[in-house]
Amino acid sequence: MTSFQEYQRWMSAQLATVSDQPAQEARWLMARSLGLRPAELLVNAHQFLSSDQKNGLQKRLDERLRGVPMAYCLGEWSFYGLDLEVNTAVLIPRPDSELLIHLALAEAAGDNTLQILDLGTGSGALALAMAVARPQARVFAVEQSPEALAVARRNGEKLGAKVEWLEGDWFTPLDPTLRFDLIVSNPPYLASADPHLPELQHEPLAALVAGPSGLECLESIIQGAGKHLHPGGQIFLEHGWEQGAAVRKLLHTLEFQQVQTHADIAGRERVTTAGSPNHA
Ligand SMILES: C[S@@+](CC[C@H](N)C(=O)[O-])C[C@H]1O[C@@H](n2cnc3c(N)ncnc32)[C@H](O)[C@@H]1O
Repeated sequence: MTSFQEYQRWMSAQLATVSDQPAQEARWLMARSLGLRPAELLVNAHQFLSSDQKNGLQKRLDERLRGVPMAYCLGEWSFYGLDLEVNTAVLIPRPDSELLIHLALAEAAGDNTLQILDLGTGSGALALAMAVARPQARVFAVEQSPEALAVARRNGEKLGAKVEWLEGDWFTPLDPTLRFDLIVSNPPYLASADPHLPELQHEPLAALVAGPSGLECLESIIQGAGKHLHPGGQIFLEHGWEQGAAVRKLLHTLEFQQVQTHADIAGRERVTTAGSPNHA
């Protein structure tokens, strides 16, 4: 017979081989597996685990010890205060993208008739953060992977957020007459030979790699965005920290206005914003 507390301590010791926060990870895995909030583990510390509970815990622990990211072991991850379902069909939403949401929400203040588009929605993270914060806006989200789109839809349902989910390649599933006030995107932006790819082996390659240069998806989005923005509309693009100059150049070439790159708290260029071209 093993108590919750004993098993949690044992898990923590196992996790120390793969994690620099083993006690925290043991708490998350215990809570998720037992259907408790982390704080409830303390109250139940001396309760004994059933064999089913033990098997469930062992399965998640084995995955984690094999190097599977914590988000996939838990099956959910938090983004901008929203608890989102995640699985290996979707990129794990990153805190880096919260800068983009912060900038986009500042431009989406107080207008009930806004139309917002998220391109490459994955788990739905950006579309849902916008839809939850601006419930009067009409939010559209496009995703190429049907498996990812199914996760996004479930997240939308769970949060009761109204988003129009569309499957396809960037702008192609949209009615060509649709115009947006805000377009947001965190597209794939790694180059095919990026040396960091082995560290990201558990995440979907199609969510990470854009092509030989890494700029291919950003180029497609920038090329299509002009005719889908209202005059005065804005685009918000997340990109790699060394891609700011290339993204600004692409936007300037297509006559986007007020092109500006924003740095994260570490001072790295991560999000570029621009206003619609004058001829849009
Ligand atoms: C970097 S992930 C971002 C996911 C999510 N927006 C986030 O920030 O967590 C990029 C997403 O774009 C999708 N994608 C890749 N190529 C696409 C295309 N041509 N059209 C639509 N979506 C695409 C991928 O499947 C992936 O879900």
